[in-house]
Amino acid sequence: MTRFKHDILVIGSGAAGLTTALHLAPHAKVGVLSKGPLTAANTYYAQGGVAAVLDEGDSVDAHIEDTLIAGAGLCHEDAVRQTVENGPDAIRWLIQQGVGFTTEQMGNGQTEYHLTREGGHSHRRVIHAADATGFAISSTLIEQVKQVANVALFESRVAVDLITTQKLGQPDNRVLGAYVLNNDTGLVEVHEARFVVLATGGASKAYLYTSNPDVATGDGIAMAWRAGCRVGNMEFNQFHPTCLYHPDAGNFLITEAIRGEGGHLKLPDGTRFMKDFDDRLELAPRDIVARAIDHEMKRLGLDCVFLDISHKPAEFIKSHFPTIYERCLEFGIDITREAIPVVPAAHFTCGGVLTDLNGRTDVDGLYAIGETAFTGLHGANRLASNSLLECVVFAIASSQDMHARASEPPPIAKIPDWDESQVTDSDEDVVISHNWDELRRFMWDYVGIVRTDKRLQRARHRVELLQQEILEYYSNYKISNDLIELRNLVLVAELIINCALARKESRGLHYTLDYPDLLPVAKDTLLVPPLYLPKG
Ligand code: FAD
Ligand code: SIN
Repeated sequence: MTRFKHDILVIGSGAAGLTTALHLAPHAKVGVLSKGPLTAANTYYAQGGVAAVLDEGDSVDAHIEDTLIAGAGLCHEDAVRQTVENGPDAIRWLIQQGVGFTTEQMGNGQTEYHLTREGGHSHRRVIHAADATGFAISSTLIEQVKQVANVALFESRVAVDLITTQKLGQPDNRVLGAYVLNNDTGLVEVHEARFVVLATGGASKAYLYTSNPDVATGDGIAMAWRAGCRVGNMEFNQFHPTCLYHPDAGNFLITEAIRGEGGHLKLPDGTRFMKDFDDRLELAPRDIVARAIDHEMKRLGLDCVFLDISHKPAEFIKSHFPTIYERCLEFGIDITREAIPVVPAAHFTCGGVLTDLNGRTDVDGLYAIGETAFTGLHGANRLASNSLLECVVFAIASSQDMHARASEPPPIAKIPDWDESQVTDSDEDVVISHNWDELRRFMWDYVGIVRTDKRLQRARHRVELLQQEILEYYSNYKISNDLIELRNLVLVAELIINCALARKESRGLHYTLDYPDLLPVAKDTLLVPPLYLPKG
């Protein structure tokens, strides 16, 4: 069996994982895993930008306030403050790495970074690289990390499960590494490490319609749960209001910055409808806009609504939104002349693995950062463009924490080989594809933008059946990338449903017809796994 030994194993090559690797590389040997190529991450597809206080007219207090309002009473104020206060430094670090954010020429002849606006922000504070900010960040960080001798990059590797002292029968719960499937060879490897960082992104692939790429199957959340980490606030799935509606478009986002720069949401007859839902119109927070679109689509039996920026000059549209302009043109939609057909789609996982402000989880030596983590920043609804910021800020904080712990004695344990003696080659892969489709469809229909207890109970019943079937399959057949993802996704779906059933109110992204009001006291939904070992 192939074995690798790292000081730190980072699982994930998005903004969170790569920022961690770059910060730790001067002090330690770091291994970075990515399921596919390094670019296969939500980060690569981010459009709008990164929110931070960069303008003199803006303030830390205003960014904090906007985040708290969007989060509907559930944000942890310490996490919000840490993120917002460290925002400008995080952006400076990205600029130092070489990220080419968009600039504009000011009246006085000076060049400054262009700041755009998105829903829920009271100021222009979103720094961006046109409408392809994620591409700029991803490619820059990948270029940097490839030049660092201390970082070993492992593409086509899917982490299967964490190895912990508790799983090996010891009384404590300390992480030792991970079993990892090499997708190229089909063999399982052992990656041993003193610290392991879950930077595995979100779980929006649990839904039929999503803005996310295929890797977003909640693997880190599922692995952490199985290792004994508490998971929280999984009911808060953010649905982005505007994804392109076209049969051949797949999952293509239409950035909120289009609304920030004056785009209007319209019904097919050209009527604007956001005035019926919120005074902030198209710039209300995402939960409100997505629900308004869902409401209008259901009320009028529509397949989509329309986002129109064609009243702006064509040159402005092409220079601010070149990627969207080109992509829509491929489908015969000229956004400088006509409105874009759009629908909401699952976009972001606000909950996740519970961490402290340094990214530490319930398992000693295990960290979770980025979209996979539940730091308390987002509360019941994430403010637009706060996610990439969170990735960088918490990656830096957790890197510093691991560096400070470098002198701690390493755990001692003999890690066994991966045992394949009881399994055979699968003879019916259709089980995987069938269950995958079924899961994503009932999650969309029953655990979507508008929920009821009855729908959630239906979903719970189905997810329990799928769990049984998939676990049986997992125990009998050799693992594959698809099986690992499905096993994780079905577990994460169950966590989402359980959190949603536990919340007897409507708050932020969780809206249920059975409990349409807010409860007076805002509480997180915390789920405790079977292997949870309280500290001390
Ligand atoms: P990701 O970037 O998703 O990276 C996850 C990594 O983990 C990948 O490398 C993946 O291969 C790896 N991985 C997962 N599971 C395993 C496993 N089992 N084994 C090995 N590797 C694994 N946010 C903003 O703030 N601003 C924006 O403008 C913005 N626009 C967005 C646009 C789109 C279309 C999407 C989808 C999201 C957008 N977001 C935006 C959200 C933001 O991009 C993500 O929340 C953020 O990039 C998450 O970064 P991450 O590093 O946590 O995870
Ligand atoms: C967008 O560009 O609309 C996405 C921004 C985000 O998800 O924060």
